[in-house]
Amino acid sequence: MTKVSALYIECSSDVAAYARDLLYSDPTAINLNYLSDNPLQLRVLASAMSKRFEGKTVLITGASSGIGRSTAFEFARSCPKNLKLVLTARRIDSLKQVASEINKEVGDGVRVLPVQLDVSKADEVRNFVGQLPDEFKEVDVLVNNAGLVKGVAKAPEIAEEDVDVMFATNVTGLINMTQAILPSMLKRNNGDGSGDIINIGSIAGREPYIGGSIYCATKAAVRSFTESLRKELIAKRIRVIAIDPGQVETEFSLVRFGGNKSKADAVYAGCEPLTPDDIAETIVFAAGRRENVVIADTLIFPNHQAAATIMHRKST
Ligand SMILES: NC(=O)c1ccc[n+]([C@@H]2O[C@H](COP(=O)([O-])OP(=O)(O)OC[C@H]3O[C@@H](n4cnc5c(N)ncnc54)[C@H](OP(=O)(O)O)[C@@H]3O)[C@@H](O)[C@H]2O)c1
Repeated sequence: MTKVSALYIECSSDVAAYARDLLYSDPTAINLNYLSDNPLQLRVLASAMSKRFEGKTVLITGASSGIGRSTAFEFARSCPKNLKLVLTARRIDSLKQVASEINKEVGDGVRVLPVQLDVSKADEVRNFVGQLPDEFKEVDVLVNNAGLVKGVAKAPEIAEEDVDVMFATNVTGLINMTQAILPSMLKRNNGDGSGDIINIGSIAGREPYIGGSIYCATKAAVRSFTESLRKELIAKRIRVIAIDPGQVETEFSLVRFGGNKSKADAVYAGCEPLTPDDIAETIVFAAGRRENVVIADTLIFPNHQAAATIMHRKST
């Protein structure tokens, strides 16, 4: 019997997600006799969106964990045949691991380039674009996701170092990345420009809360920058998209509490936070719309959340 090494199913992204879950959790759901056993390659295609992504280059900052990592997988799953991913963060080993897991899952139709880059270092960002290999230079989608929070201190007790690192990463880093990539987006399409800039803000940028003054200020700055940019680019075919998550369980709280896992876990006690995949799906959905459709602004909560600090917690 001839065995096939890949099974392609053409369907919508929702059905694709369902099929993927089903087939990975219950391989007997299909007749495995027809599939080569090692490795089982299952590729599920989401048709219209998949076609829109074909041949594109997507650059994600902060792709070594959390939302950025999930976004890399979600783009790869949405267009497994012909996509280029540039994944950046400081932890290069984690990026290489993400790259190899993506190729293991979707095959080598997705070309992944892991690049070590600290967005808070202006000189690194400046050199980064010039050093990209030619085939990855024309970035179609920039996901400005790298970001972090440090501590819960209130003024006047906030460490100067924490203030600096949050602004340098969340604000200056995002602005520098945008300025590094934008010139090539502007040149395309006979000068009309093309491309997507997707900025990851936060509910914190809309609603300042006690103990988060600096982080909230950085995300408010991201919001202002994003809205100015959309207005500045009004005559161009460049989409500027804001994604503002509420509570998502990632390494975010671990970083906030300097690696203290019990403090980080307490943030989610009695709650069912969003997963990074939930945000990744929204990012990829926004990027996957028809070129004339701009998902300009989104606010995404888990079901128990209604504001930055209004959370229903089940008693344990
Ligand atoms: N989790 C939440 O509840 C939540 C809510 C709203 C918004 N957000 C936003 O979502 C984004 C992603 O956060 P996450 O929740 O996925 O947290 P995460 O798991 O801690 O991921 C943060 C990512 O940013 C990268 N990063 C941090 N500093 C960097 C730097 N200087 N240069 C390059 N990369 C850097 C980290 O990689 P390296 O350490 O390898 O550099 C990591 O990949 C952030 O902008 C965050 O503010 C998160």
